[in-house]
Amino acid sequence: MSNNILEVHNLSVRFQTDDGEVEAVNGVNFSLAPGETLGIVGESGSGKSQTVLSVMGLLAANGKAGGKVVFQGADLLGMPARELNRVRGSSIGMIFQDPMTSLNPYMRISEQLTESLILHRGMSKKDALARAIEVLDAVHIPDARNRVHYYPHEFSGGMRQRVMIAMALLCKPELIIADEPTTALDVTVQAQILNLLGELRDDFGVAIILITHDLGVVAGLCDHVMVMYGGQVMEYGALEPIFANPTHPYTRGLLRSVPRLDDAGASALQTIPGNPPDLMHLPPGCPFGPRCGDQRELCSHNRPVLEFAHDGHARACHVPLEELR
Ligand SMILES: Nc1ncnc2c1ncn2[C@@H]1O[C@H](COP(=O)(O)OP(=O)(O)O)[C@@H](O)[C@H]1O
Ligand SMILES: [Mg+2]
Repeated sequence: MSNNILEVHNLSVRFQTDDGEVEAVNGVNFSLAPGETLGIVGESGSGKSQTVLSVMGLLAANGKAGGKVVFQGADLLGMPARELNRVRGSSIGMIFQDPMTSLNPYMRISEQLTESLILHRGMSKKDALARAIEVLDAVHIPDARNRVHYYPHEFSGGMRQRVMIAMALLCKPELIIADEPTTALDVTVQAQILNLLGELRDDFGVAIILITHDLGVVAGLCDHVMVMYGGQVMEYGALEPIFANPTHPYTRGLLRSVPRLDDAGASALQTIPGNPPDLMHLPPGCPFGPRCGDQRELCSHNRPVLEFAHDGHARACHVPLEELR
């Protein structure tokens, strides 16, 4: 048996709509070791959120996941809803972009943090409150003993995101999934939240999947990176080689559109021309082909698959590395 806490095999997500079928996620494979931090990056609409929502069994009603998702040895996709709820509630914590969608504005934080501990864990009110204060302390909310009784609106945006992270920590999860957790925050607060996530990984050994469209965010926290486009994994590898020697034209394009600290604005930032594909009418070849400066004849009718090199780095591209521009 492998040591991985999460293994995703050939994951697909299809949505049925009145206009046709949306191929949102296509043949995604990845795994996660305990304590590992995986960044999933890609432009908006590349299938990042649907990948993790399907792992959690939280797809919209018109969506269906295929493939295999093995978490701590159990297949989540085949699991009855009740059992899946239990796994979610006890082993996986989830954090979203906007804390206000997950927090109840009319309930004190104390009630929101203790409710599930009392109902599902049979904790006494007193013990649950102590645990709530403990997790608020862990995410560095000052004066947690008093602020636990605040309403969500009494916190700033950054503090609310800390409350969300505290909520995710309540059940002592082995895995935290964070979907664009800092996108709505200003840069300083964003850095504080990323530091906090790094600290939780180091202190509690929790594995993290961090979704972001911002490569800078990935660089600050992650040890592995998965680059997605058109519902497919384009490149996967350890953080440093992805940044130093990206092997996929899409990753190279993304990196050219990020400001570099060592380059003081000397070279102009380039955005990738064109738009992401319509997932209802994916081209038969490489989804990135139409926007790719390296495109070959083969690329327009043959979809590249993700191939792993012996060093664990993987790319889905027909063009040999040494021939890329
Ligand atoms: N309920 C739905 N019905 C139809 N299409 C959907 C639904 N939910 C998401 N999609 C489509 O799935 C694609 C991938 O979405 P998503 O994973 O959310 O992208 P992102 O990479 O920005 O997180 C998008 O094109 C989106 O329109
Ligand atoms: Mg998303």
